[in-house]
Amino acid sequence: MSVALVGAGPGDPELITVRGLARLQACEVLVHDRLAGKELLAEAPADALRIPREGLAQEEVNALLVAHGRRRRVVRLKGGDPFVFGRGGEEALALARAGIPFEVIPGVSSLSAVPAAAGIPVTHRGASAAVTAFAAHDVDALDTAALAAVPGTLVAFMGLAGLSRLAERLVVAGKPASTPVAVVSAGTTDGQRSVTAPLGAIGRVAAGLETPALVVVGEVVAVGEAIATAAEAAA
Ligand SMILES: C[S@@+](CC[C@H](N)C(=O)[O-])C[C@H]1O[C@@H](n2cnc3c(N)ncnc32)[C@H](O)[C@@H]1O
Repeated sequence: MSVALVGAGPGDPELITVRGLARLQACEVLVHDRLAGKELLAEAPADALRIPREGLAQEEVNALLVAHGRRRRVVRLKGGDPFVFGRGGEEALALARAGIPFEVIPGVSSLSAVPAAAGIPVTHRGASAAVTAFAAHDVDALDTAALAAVPGTLVAFMGLAGLSRLAERLVVAGKPASTPVAVVSAGTTDGQRSVTAPLGAIGRVAAGLETPALVVVGEVVAVGEAIATAAEAAA
């Protein structure tokens, strides 16, 4: 039949798209990520086959989608947007090669939604006109000289575990230790927590936060603080 690669949004179940929810409510097989909340999983029909992705290799997920997609309406529910650090491209390639009809239903990515939920605009006139998103699970593999030199906002995915090392490498590469940084954990959910600190201190200040967490580096973090201060003063 067909496969829909659906973005579940960043955590708050209300942030899935209307089209994504419609596909979910009509699916026969649901293959889902850990980051897709339980409220959304409950939206699939009670008799839908539910397959958690955890513990499966990417090739096994691809094979599952191809096998079920031949005969059933399959939803592959992924956190955020399927094509932003979500391996959605690999699944789309496997489906395309196997001749299975599929569609990609974009999701609200944590890239901008999680900073927004913490009051931080990822771009702001006069403060940042560019956003560089990168995966930071392997800090030593990063080109921190390039990251330190690029203008605008840096957004690190999967960067919590190596945060101290990332901050240290950025400072050594020339990023000022005073650059404001925010770390937002479980953004958009009831469990959201965030901390801010200069780059030179963020590793220590963010200790104790839990994954998933997004790291935002740049002057936009100070803009977020200015918005919060102005709102408080006006209240
Ligand atoms: C494998 S990536 C998936 C990204 C997803 N496809 C997206 O568009 O948001 C997982 C990483 O995204 C970030 N992330 C996803 N949801 C988040 C949330 N609610 N709060 C903070 N960070 C989040 C974290 O850095 C996490 O380690």
